[in-house]
Amino acid sequence: MKGIILAGGHGTRLFPLTKATNKHLLPVGREPMLFHPIRQLCDAGITDILVITSTDHMGDVVRCLGSGADFGCSLSYRVQETAGGIAHALALGANFAGGDAVCVLLGDNVFEYSIAPYVEHFRAQGRGARVLLKEVGDPERYGVAALDEHQVIEIEEKPTNPKSHFAVVGLYLYDARVFDIIGAVEPSARGEYEITSVNNAYIASGELQYDVCRGAWTDAGTFDSLAEANAILAKNLNRILPHD
Ligand code: DAU
Repeated sequence: MKGIILAGGHGTRLFPLTKATNKHLLPVGREPMLFHPIRQLCDAGITDILVITSTDHMGDVVRCLGSGADFGCSLSYRVQETAGGIAHALALGANFAGGDAVCVLLGDNVFEYSIAPYVEHFRAQGRGARVLLKEVGDPERYGVAALDEHQVIEIEEKPTNPKSHFAVVGLYLYDARVFDIIGAVEPSARGEYEITSVNNAYIASGELQYDVCRGAWTDAGTFDSLAEANAILAKNLNRILPHD
């Protein structure tokens, strides 16, 4: 399985911090934000990793992360010229994936616990897609899963009237068909190629499964959530907790 970290976009909600550097290099706990998804993927045994980022401060991103040797992994890079959405960024990883399954992490998501068990569940699943859900107090900020007793029946992106409190967090596991599925996705009303459309395509074919995220999780895209991400990682000195 290959790893893909999506770190494009312009981080406008964090301006003027993002005038100084790329959002994904801002400090969380004791490290730049992008160290966390790299450490998570390595912890899950995924060491061939593509980082997709915008042209904003691209040199700083490469200078900071290098070849991956410091993390025990191999890093490749691609530039997303325009912030066309999460699925648009992921499409740039098709050649890198080369027919393998992919573990996709949003570069601004932080997890208290290791993602390794969710990756293992997907390996056992063998095909289709797997997402991670987290109960939150403000679901309208996220992709929100509607559930029946056994499965996710629909995901809505930032709904006004959410059907549950389960946010779809920024960890997505896909088989190699994901790139064909993205090719058929239409832009949403806000003009983005949404990852939620990709996930709904897997739901339609009955092949999307899920786990519920253990421990604390947040994105870091706003000042409040950046502070939350900092608190989560600072508490354990950026160590990712194992599930025992
Ligand atoms: O954090 C989880 C949420 O992330 C999900 O619940 C939503 O379904 C999903 O759409 C996404 O929502 P956001 O509104 O928080 O996404 P945002 O535009 O902030 O992008 C999140 C990360 O994705 C960002 O740190 C970098 C990457 N990204 C985003 C865009 C729009 C790219 O690499 N390229 C892009 O064009």
